[in-house]
Amino acid sequence: MRTVARADADLPDIFNQRIQLAKNEWKWGHLNNNALIFLCCLAKAGFSPILEFGTFTGRTAYNLALNAATKVYTVDIGRNVDACSNAAGVTYPEYIPGELFLDDPELGDKIELIVGDSMTLDFSRFYGAMGMVIVDGGHSMRWPNRIPRMLFAWFGLEA
Ligand SMILES: C[S@@+](CC[C@H](N)C(=O)[O-])C[C@H]1O[C@@H](n2cnc3c(N)ncnc32)[C@H](O)[C@@H]1O
Repeated sequence: MRTVARADADLPDIFNQRIQLAKNEWKWGHLNNNALIFLCCLAKAGFSPILEFGTFTGRTAYNLALNAATKVYTVDIGRNVDACSNAAGVTYPEYIPGELFLDDPELGDKIELIVGDSMTLDFSRFYGAMGMVIVDGGHSMRWPNRIPRMLFAWFGLEA
């Protein structure tokens, strides 16, 4: 695995993918549109299966599933716990995790929603098997300590 500071600079053709986008209404808590497009380009270019931390309404997971050849796994704690821990200190609107894809007849089967606390869930079944991992879940300062160790494992490297 290579580590790059800016994946868009390292993959010069990445924005030439023919991606699909849908269900794009934006609300506070969603990724911004530039980030969404970039992730969908990566998915279309073959960076999958995908594991996303932080499902929220499922806007990103849904769009990733539209573009990825393989499955999207997405993890959410299932309730509003982040109120004062994001940079702006703003609480998310009420949501049902994955509400945008839960009843979707075409993409529902392509997305696996995992409801639980990413601080304590066991992710070992994903180790060495992921093409892309997106960290957009809890913003607690405890969480970054767990990320590097898991990233090494996901991509099949020694810590
Ligand atoms: C920034 S939002 C995710 C937005 C989503 N990735 C998107 O692009 O639409 C963060 C989500 O992570 C969830 N979350 C917060 N702490 C969590 C934790 N410890 N484990 C799992 N999910 C968590 C929040 O409830 C919220 O739904």
